[in-house]
Amino acid sequence: MKNICAIGVGYVGLVTGACMADLGNRVVCLNRNQQKCDNLKKGILPIYEPGLEEIVQRNLKAGRLSFTTSYDEAMEDAEFVFVAVGTPSGDGGEADLAHVEAAATAVAKRIHQPIIIVNKSTVPIGTGDWVAGIVRGAMPDPNIPFWVVSNPEFLREGSGVYDCMNPDRVVLGSTNREAAKRVAALYYPLHAETIITDLRTAEMIKYASNAFLATKISFINEMSNICESLGADVKEVARGMGSDSRISPQFLGAGIGWGGSCFPKDVKALAHMASTHGTHPQMLRAVMEINRDQRKRFVTKLRHILGGFRGKTIGLLGLSFKPNTDDMRDAPSVEIINLLLYEGAEIKGYDPVAMENARRILGDTVTYCQDPYEVAEGADALMLISEWNEFKQLDMERIKKSMRRPVLMDGRNIYDPRRLRELGFTYRGMGRGYDEAGQPR
Ligand code: UGA
Repeated sequence: MKNICAIGVGYVGLVTGACMADLGNRVVCLNRNQQKCDNLKKGILPIYEPGLEEIVQRNLKAGRLSFTTSYDEAMEDAEFVFVAVGTPSGDGGEADLAHVEAAATAVAKRIHQPIIIVNKSTVPIGTGDWVAGIVRGAMPDPNIPFWVVSNPEFLREGSGVYDCMNPDRVVLGSTNREAAKRVAALYYPLHAETIITDLRTAEMIKYASNAFLATKISFINEMSNICESLGADVKEVARGMGSDSRISPQFLGAGIGWGGSCFPKDVKALAHMASTHGTHPQMLRAVMEINRDQRKRFVTKLRHILGGFRGKTIGLLGLSFKPNTDDMRDAPSVEIINLLLYEGAEIKGYDPVAMENARRILGDTVTYCQDPYEVAEGADALMLISEWNEFKQLDMERIKKSMRRPVLMDGRNIYDPRRLRELGFTYRGMGRGYDEAGQPR
């Protein structure tokens, strides 16, 4: 049992803190928002993450997990401090480190025993050294030893708890191998491959991993566009490619592209770091450009079918950036809605959990519906934006009857084009080849 302080109660901080408590450690989670903290003490979470509430409540009850707004309290017994604060995009695409700096300073001022500062936030290469400098300058007694370890997080929103408890690998970077090994010991129960390296390399592994996954998606989206013009089906292409173990089928889902709080910010930040250090990030730029174009392409396809959007009602299924999350950060839905509104469309939308967050961003530009059937009523087209399970087996006959015009735009390729065609829909997926009549699917 170790004493851990986790700073930040977002997806990374809260999931890591709760999982570390579940593994038998004593964890104090710190955040500065009193309301959030009071709710967390009652087991009410600020985010939607499947399975997390149960773990938080279980560990609160067991007394292994607690919440505070006070650094003094959080640092009292801490042997490890996990820093998991936000690093949003700055004006030029660089990561904004204001929260990291504030956390490092606040921690430093309270160091009274040897401590390991574990950085889980995604931070620019070199941040670990910078944090060590801040801590050294701010600690009251410079003779107390401390170490900085970079421990990037690879969990996905929506499956955060599973990913945290079943990591493919644990990456640890430090100037001090012993400190890295002590952090590795926290993960021993998970039996994951552990990679111990230097600070900068660990920081780079995080960016390179996210950039590679984004690249894989942009690659398959480019293939999907080529498939579309040549009559091949990208889903089958991805299946054929993915069964090569060197390629793997994961992240080969063509569609309207990647969004969320990580890929857009991290690819941009890596490109920014590269160009400010004299390297031309040409592939990263193409990866971002393909992603931007993919959303526009989706709208363009619908424009061709409807002959313009003025006076048309478009229904969106799914508003969050992907299923199983209420996160609306950089969600493709927002850009798509703005493009449609700009051209005079009326928008209806539904999401199983992201409606409240969507309303905060989109206000009353959207008519929010109770379910997918209400979205379909009187619509000239339906656009599937995020592939929540509940959209996979809809009563399509009922939907078709209630629509003004049965047009279905499948932004995630989850439907069977042939079946929808048979039901009388005008169906368009992303790169799904030609049908028997030589028409695009
Ligand atoms: C991503 C990474 O997958 C995690 O490993 C990483 O820890 C996390 O970022 C982070 O840096 O914090 P996340 O953004 O939660 O996780 O979600 P993903 O499942 O990776 O999806 C990202 C976007 O890619 C979504 O918009 C999703 O719809 C899209 N996507 C994903 C596709 O368009 N096609 C695919 O085949 C897979």
